[in-house]
Amino acid sequence: METVVSGIRSTGNLHLGNYFGAIKNFLKMQKEHQCYFFIADYHSLTTHPNPNDLHENVKKVLAEYLACGIDPEEATVYVQSDVPEIAELYLLLNMNAYVGELERTTTFKEKVRSQPNNINAGLLTYAVLMAADIIIHKATKVPVGKDQEQHLEMTRNFAKRFNHMYKVDYFPEPTAYNFGEALVKIPGLDGSGKMGKSDGNGIFLAEEEKSIRKKVMRAVSDSGPTEMNQKKPQAIENLFTLMQVVSTPDTLEYFDEKYNRCQIRYGDMKKQLAEDIVKFTAPIRERIIDIYSNEEYLRKVVERGAEKARESAAKTVKEVREIMGFRPF
Ligand code: TRP
Repeated sequence: METVVSGIRSTGNLHLGNYFGAIKNFLKMQKEHQCYFFIADYHSLTTHPNPNDLHENVKKVLAEYLACGIDPEEATVYVQSDVPEIAELYLLLNMNAYVGELERTTTFKEKVRSQPNNINAGLLTYAVLMAADIIIHKATKVPVGKDQEQHLEMTRNFAKRFNHMYKVDYFPEPTAYNFGEALVKIPGLDGSGKMGKSDGNGIFLAEEEKSIRKKVMRAVSDSGPTEMNQKKPQAIENLFTLMQVVSTPDTLEYFDEKYNRCQIRYGDMKKQLAEDIVKFTAPIRERIIDIYSNEEYLRKVVERGAEKARESAAKTVKEVREIMGFRPF
């Protein structure tokens, strides 16, 4: 059985991008593999959450994970900060991570651009913490979206470097995984590349029907194609990609044909897209509300999860310490 690890940062409600980029694959993997799915609350600290919000954010993502169908009987579901061994492995790996390579990470460079007033060392070493998350369970497969590809490459480098430095064959080299298919990138509604949490761009799993419809109807589009079979501009391609994940193949084909014949009415397409998104999210939303209020159940899930995750993590850290030369007196 292969070991699988993946996590999502607790920085707000989960959206369709999280679902189709990651969670959908978690669900497909949880029965056949040894899975560890966690909530990356240490990672959320790079943006300095208010202490009153931190716990709330974890609780939300936890309820959303479970509402999507992640089964704590099948997978180990835990909160990252409940496993202090991860912080220890992170410290050890940091000694072997070079500032140059960390500074060249695309996500880091993006943060330097977008938040010049908060370029903290946690952001710089984000990939080291992520590597610790993964290799602490000696995972080989990591279901993530396209944006995490480089982080996985760095994880492999850190794992290889450790093996090489201590002349051991200890850590396996994990890869980003999507059942042999290309890693997915779910676009948002603002015409740009990727679905995120910013206003009007993302559709949340817990979002109310009315709000979803409003957002979709306001999604960026254009005045329509002028030539038959014209290549779709990004914003339009985005609408089709969303339709591809939530609608039936027939629906997608119908609108694709309309587009190619220059007969498309984006209002109609958006109405159908909103309809299909609501159909998909409504039952999840109901379960989120239900699970979120069940404090006792949530507590049981994270307690059991932490126990199982710590068992695996403690074993690795113990062995790593031995390999590195820490000895008891
Ligand atoms: N960096 C991931 C993201 O932003 C979240 C994450 C943290 C993660 N640690 C991980 C994903 C370990 C997979 C494995 O989506």
